[in-house]
Amino acid sequence: MYDQAETLRQLSAQTNVPPQSSPARVIAITSGKGGVGKTNLAVNVGLALARMGVRTGVLDADLGMGNVDIVLGVVPQFNLSHVIYGQKRMKDILVEGPESMKILAGCSGLYELANLSQWRLQRLTNALGELDDQLDILLIDTGAGISRNVLSFLLSVQEVIVITTNEPTSITDTYGLIKVLNQSNPNCKVSLVVNMVRNQREAEGVCRKLNMVVEKFLHTQLDYLGYMPFDDAVARSVQQQKPILQAYPYSPAARAIAQMAAAICERPRPASGGIREIFARMVQLFSR
Ligand SMILES: Nc1ncnc2c1ncn2[C@@H]1O[C@H](COP(=O)(O)OP(=O)(O)OP(=O)(O)O)[C@@H](O)[C@H]1O
Ligand SMILES: [Mg+2]
Repeated sequence: MYDQAETLRQLSAQTNVPPQSSPARVIAITSGKGGVGKTNLAVNVGLALARMGVRTGVLDADLGMGNVDIVLGVVPQFNLSHVIYGQKRMKDILVEGPESMKILAGCSGLYELANLSQWRLQRLTNALGELDDQLDILLIDTGAGISRNVLSFLLSVQEVIVITTNEPTSITDTYGLIKVLNQSNPNCKVSLVVNMVRNQREAEGVCRKLNMVVEKFLHTQLDYLGYMPFDDAVARSVQQQKPILQAYPYSPAARAIAQMAAAICERPRPASGGIREIFARMVQLFSR
């Protein structure tokens, strides 16, 4: 007796159509306070995922700051604006990063959503939707804080990684961000990464501290994804414009990043989503 999957495989073999794959998983990487390690995490987790055979893209949505290109030493010539105005196709603006990881520059294109005509927004959504077939995971490196631009990503996605350090200002801003997320996008899965700590014990202490207030006031729990130790190799790799996974693969920070990438793969992905769906939602938010 054939099961449904077998029937589908036979059908697709007969018609030469590849079996339909699920849309890409989209994870926004963000923080309450700036300078806590978002871009380094996005690029290096992206690289670690690519090494595991996951087709990974990193969208540099830190508008106007151009962070990912600096960390990677890869300068994308075109960005989403070129797609919105019909000058380029999506495949022309995707830059091949190290080890087949894909880099996508958001730049000013995403600032302009509120002023775009409906058909331009549709063109953007369609173009981004093409990426669902090409990628398994899209990581979005957002800016820090809760400006309208960052919020539009955070309210549209179903998975967010929030990075904090152990500094009181960072912890306070992290709580503020989680509160907004919890109130405005309650179904979103929020994971915590603690950066620049001495060891796992310190990281877990930060997570406990945050979870105490999150449980008390927001009646939910943060999911701890992992930590990155303070490691001079990170700054040296940034100087060299090489991801730490390539420049210092045996450093404590690189090992911690590889563990986080594995943890991401092990977690169940949200049932629905995908790049097209998420950007369609974002466009709706902007056109209100
Ligand atoms: N684990 C670490 N150990 C030591 N230094 C680190 C670590 N993580 C990040 N840094 C340093 O902190 C600085 C900021 O990192 P990064 O640019 O990734 O942060 P960001 O959150 O993206 O900043 P922004 O908010 O400005 O976009 C970098 O110069 C980097 O070298
Ligand atoms: Mg950054």
